[in-house]
Formats: sequence, C-alpha cells, structure tokens
Amino acid sequence: MTARALIALALGLAACGGKSFEGPMRFGDKVVEARVLDRGHDVFNRYCATCHGTDGKAQTAQSQNLDPKPRDFTAAHFKHKLAEGDALPTDLELKKVVRHGVPGTGMPGWPNLDEDDLDAIIQYIKTFSPRWQSEAPPSKTSSGNAPGNAPENQQPSGSDGDQKTVRPAP
Ligand code: HEC
Repeated sequence: MTARALIALALGLAACGGKSFEGPMRFGDKVVEARVLDRGHDVFNRYCATCHGTDGKAQTAQSQNLDPKPRDFTAAHFKHKLAEGDALPTDLELKKVVRHGVPGTGMPGWPNLDEDDLDAIIQYIKTFSPRWQSEAPPSKTSSGNAPGNAPENQQPSGSDGDQKTVRPAP
C-alpha cells in the first residue's frame, strides 16, 4: 500500500469517529489525559459540530445562517472572558459560555450537560489551536504577581554558611 493510501485510510478512520488521542496533551500548566480528549471529541461531535464543525472551523451549513458566526476554534480568539485583549479564556469562563450559552446569538446553553462531559469538551476545543499549548490563560491571581516575584523564589541571602555539613573527624 502506498503512503498516500495509508494516509487516506487513516483520515477515513478519523472521520468515522475512530479518532483517538495517543497521549496526554499539555495546555498551559494543565495536563489532560488522552481518554478525556477522546471523550471530548465524541461529545463535541455530537452536540457542537453542527455549528462549530468537526474540524472546529465553524464552516458548516448551519453556521452560514448565523450572525455572529460560531467561533472558529482553530483561530482561538475568544470574546467572553474577563481578561483584556486577545488573551485566552480560563476553563471556568469557557464552561460558563457552554453552560449558559450566549443570549442573542446562535450559541445555545447546555444546562444539563454532564460535568465530566463539559470538562472534556472544553479540553477538546483546545486541541484545535496550538495557542493553548504555548500560552496559558491568565491565572485568577495574576494581578502584578509575575512568577519570578513570588516570595518563595526569593532566597534569603547569606544563609548558606549556616548549613555546612559537619563531618566526623577521621
Ligand atoms: C446552533 C449553533 C451552535 C451550536 C450547536 C453550538 N454553538 Fe458554540 N457558538 C455558536 C455561536 C453563534 C457562537 C458565537 C457567539 C458570540 O459571538 O458571542 C458560539 C460561540 C462559542 C464559544 C466562544 C465563546 C467566546 O468566548 O468567544 C464557545 C467556547 C462555544 N461556542 C462552545 C460550544 C460548545 C462546547 C458547543 C457544544 C456543546 C457549542 N458551542 C454548540 C453557535 C453554536
């Protein structure tokens, strides 16, 4: 079999819902297991793909009729978050949008979605853009507290001398 045929076969399998993640993925400081991503993939395709697309690009028949358009997750620009500018939303912010929807737009709310399914979906959304692997959303306590300034990183100076190991005399 040619390489091309193999690739076609692999793509075909993926399209049938047989896609599975081979290992955990890291988003910011969070590691997400493959089985969670697989679950997110299934639930996303069931509930969200009609508008957001199985490829996350939101170029579906349904999305043509919507204004504003459903979010393209491969671009990873988000509106509903506290952080200014183009920062990524937190997991909590993503969950809120999915739970409650966005009133006045085509984005419905999913109040009865199982909590584990919800978590799996929002992790899965992050697999559409590499942004999630290189950037972390601002943490809740981010105001002016750069990592290097954390008190635990500030060594008291001159304490080394006190810690000499005392060796028994030969
Ligand atoms: C009927 C179409 C439709 C379905 C189904 C749908 N969405 Fe959306 N979604 C939208 C639209 C439209 C927007 C844009 C809303 C806006 O611009 O505020 C959106 C926006 C979003 C956003 C972006 C929020 C932001 O901050 O920019 C997320 C996340 C999201 N949807 C997740 C989901 C998930 C997860 C599901 C499945 C559980 C889902 N959507 C199902 C239409 C849909």
